[in-house]
Formats: sequence, C-alpha cells, structure tokens
Amino acid sequence: MPNLISRAIRRRYGKPALLITFALASAICVSAPNEPVNDRYCKTCHGSDGRGNEAIQAPILAGMEEWYLIRQLKNYRGKVRGFHPSDERGIAMQAMANSLSDESIRDIVGWIKTWEYTPPDATVDGDKAEGKKLYASCAACHREDASGNEAIGAPPLAYQNDWYLVKQLENFTNGYRGTHENDIFGQQMVTMVKQLKDDTGIRNVVSYITSLRSD
Ligand code: HEC
Ligand code: HEC
Repeated sequence: MPNLISRAIRRRYGKPALLITFALASAICVSAPNEPVNDRYCKTCHGSDGRGNEAIQAPILAGMEEWYLIRQLKNYRGKVRGFHPSDERGIAMQAMANSLSDESIRDIVGWIKTWEYTPPDATVDGDKAEGKKLYASCAACHREDASGNEAIGAPPLAYQNDWYLVKQLENFTNGYRGTHENDIFGQQMVTMVKQLKDDTGIRNVVSYITSLRSD
C-alpha cells in the first residue's frame, strides 16, 4: 500500500486503521501451505519510494548492509526480535519474516540491494553538539562517521530514518529488543543505551548521527 494511502488512513481513522493496514499486508503475503511464499510485499510497508514509511514505522531498507538485513530477518523469524508483547512494530515484522526460508531471505536481500537509495528527510530535532559528545562512546563500534562495522556486527546508522533510530533506542531502553538470550548482538546495545539517559539524550545523539550523512 503506498505511503500516502496509509498515511491518509491513519490521519482519518487513527490506530485501529493502522492495524487494518497490517492485516491487509499480512493477507497479501500469507499463502496457503505448500504454496511458494510471495516474498515481494516488502515495499507495502517499507515505502514504495524506498525511503521507509513513518506512518507504519517501517524503516528504509535501501542501502542497508546485506549482512545486517540477513541477521535481522533471521532474528525476526526466530523470534529473537519482535517477541516482546509490547513491541507492536517488531511483532508486525516478525509475522512478515516468519515463513521465509534461508533461500528466500538471500534472494530478497539480493533484490533490496538493487533498490535506489534516496536519503530520508530529517524529522528529529536535537542538540547536535550534545549529541556529538554522547556519540563518542558509540563510535568504537559504529565508527566515527556512523558507517557501521561488519567485523563487530554494528550496522550503519547515518543513512537510516531518524525516527526509526529513536524508536530502536527506546526499544533497547525498554528491553523490547536485545533482551532475548540468543540476541548476542542486540545485548551489546542494551548496556550502551544507558549512557543516553533519557529521551533528550536519544534525540540529541540521533540528530548528530544523521548529520553525518554526506548526501
Ligand atoms: C506489515 C508491514 C511490513 C511488511 C509487509 C514488511 N515489514 Fe519489515 N518492518 C516493518 C516494521 C514496522 C519494522 C520495524 C520493526 C521494529 O521496530 O522492530 C520492520 C523492520 C524490518 C527490518 C529491520 C531493519 C533494521 O534496520 O533494523 C528489516 C530488515 C525488514 N523489516 C525487512 C523486511 C522485508 C525484507 C520485508 C519483505 C519480505 C518486510 N520487511 C516486510 C513492517 C513491515
Ligand atoms: C559494543 C559495540 C557497540 C556500541 C559501543 C554501540 N553499539 Fe549500537 N549496535 C551494536 C550492534 C552489534 C548492533 C546490532 C544489534 C542487532 O543485530 O540487533 C547495534 C545496533 C544499533 C542500533 C539499531 C539500528 C537498526 O537499524 O536497527 C542503533 C540505533 C544503535 N546501535 C545506536 C547506537 C548508539 C546511539 C550508541 C552509543 C550510545 C551505540 N549504538 C553504541 C553495537 C554497538
């Protein structure tokens, strides 16, 4: 469903309608047993223009590293992510990854690689100078320019939707993400977010991170 439609539905009807959007998307992708899964429905939520969809809280996928996309899809599929009852969005995505085979994950990620990256708009306002100070402790893993580090398993951050970074930092803070015993990579973030202290810290560090884009 294109961005605009879901945004309009949400504006008019609020949260219940957002759930209808999820239900519609599920209907598109759920196939009968033994039928091949239609795994090309990703843009329904992640933005037909490839820039993420804030109304659905589904982030930009274009330009993301293959190894990170594969890990996250396997994490959702294995309920290592999207398992907490309060993690509404993670649960929505968990349902989407549920029936993907390793082969279709590889295939989908190869397809995502062909999507054109268009930088998302900045939506989060924060104190970048304060954010820069906070980011000093993040750079060891995510690198100075927030371009990520595969050897450590830390994803790029600079090119992500800023509202999504905020949401994930909140998820780590609330224990919705990174608390599963098999989430070895996510667990590292649970300790790190404590340094951000509160919502203001989160907004400040995110506004600094996305200012590192060179677009
Ligand atoms: C029903 C809407 C919906 C559909 C359809 C959907 N997603 Fe998602 N996806 C989401 C939401 C919402 C999130 C954010 C979840 C969270 O906060 O953990 C997400 C998160 C993700 C993430 C995590 C990205 C990151 O940086 O952490 C990946 C990877 C992903 N989706 C891939 C896919 C792929 C591939 C498809 C198609 C097979 C797909 N999604 C279909 C809603 C959807
Ligand atoms: C010890 C290494 C390490 C440090 C330090 C660290 N991170 Fe991470 N971060 C990771 C790893 C590993 C992941 C991937 C987790 C996963 O696979 O679910 C991650 C994931 C994230 C994500 C989720 C991105 C997405 O697309 O879903 C955000 C946001 C993030 N880190 C922000 C930060 C911020 C802000 C700091 C500093 C306060 C920080 N990180 C410090 C290792 C680190």
